[in-house]
Amino acid sequence: MSNNLLSVRSLKKRFGGLEAVNVDKFDLNKNEITSLIGPNGAGKTTFFDLITRFQNSDSGSISFDGKNVTSLNSYKLARLGMVRTFQLTRVFDRMSVYENMQFAGSSINNEGFLNSLIQSSSLKNQEKLLTEKINETLELLNLSEMKNAYARELSGGQKKLLELGRSLMKSPKILLLDEPLAGVNPKLSEQLLEIISNLNKNGINILMVEHNIDAVMKISERVVVMAEGKIISDGKPDFVRSDKNVIEAYLGSSDE
Ligand SMILES: Nc1ncnc2c1ncn2[C@@H]1O[C@H](COP(=O)(O)OP(=O)(O)O)[C@@H](O)[C@H]1O
Ligand SMILES: [Mg+2]
Repeated sequence: MSNNLLSVRSLKKRFGGLEAVNVDKFDLNKNEITSLIGPNGAGKTTFFDLITRFQNSDSGSISFDGKNVTSLNSYKLARLGMVRTFQLTRVFDRMSVYENMQFAGSSINNEGFLNSLIQSSSLKNQEKLLTEKINETLELLNLSEMKNAYARELSGGQKKLLELGRSLMKSPKILLLDEPLAGVNPKLSEQLLEIISNLNKNGINILMVEHNIDAVMKISERVVVMAEGKIISDGKPDFVRSDKNVIEAYLGSSDE
C-alpha cells in the first residue's frame, strides 16, 4: 500500500499580476506532522485554499488518498477526509458550544439520513453516536465544562479549541490548521500543541501553517517553507532552520 496521502503537481494561482501560488511538487506521507511556514503574503493560506478546494487553481493537479480530487468541491473533499480550519475562527457565536459541535457533526451524515427515516431505530442510534462523539471530543479539548455556554462567551483561545473540535466532528484523515496558535495565550498554546500531537498519534495527519517558530520546530517532523508563492525549503526542522534560502526569505535578500 502506498504511503502517499496528498500529492500536488504544478499548482498555480494568480491574482492579477501577482503569482500567489506556484508549487511544482508537494507530497505528504501518511502519519506526519508537517508545518508550512513563510513570511506574510508567501501564499500559505492560498495554498491551503487550493488544496482544500475552497478556491480554484489556475492549473495543476491534486490527488488525495489515491483519488484525483483536482475538480472536486470542498464539501465532498471534506467528506473524503480533508478538513481544514481557518485563520480567523468561524464558530457560530449565537449557538452553544454543544450546538456548534452538533452542527458540524450533522453535516457529515446527510447521505444516511434517508435510511434513518426508514429505520427510526437507526436514527436514534445515529443521534446517540453523535452525542457520544461530541462529549468525547469536548473532553479531549478540555471544553466539557463550557458545553452549554454560548460560543461568544469563550476566550479567543477557547474558540480556537472549538473550531478544532468542529473539524474533528468530520472525522478527518488530514487536518489543515491555519495558524492554530495565533492569538492564543502561552499556556493554552502548550495545551493545543499537545492536543495536536495526540491527534497525530491517533492517526490524523497534520499540516499546519504557524508563525510561532519555536512551536513549529518542537512539534513538526517536517517543515516546508514558502516564499513568494514557491516552496523554497523542505526538510527536517534542523535542516530548515539553518538553510540559507530560508534565512534570506525572512530577512530579505542578503547577498551583499
Ligand atoms: N483574493 C485575493 N485577491 C487578491 N490578492 C490576494 C487574494 N488572496 C490573497 N492575495 C494575495 O496573495 C498573496 C498570498 O496571500 P496569502 O496566501 O494570504 O499569504 P500568507 O497566508 O502566506 O500570508 C498576498 O500577496 C495576498 O495579498
Ligand atoms: Mg495566511
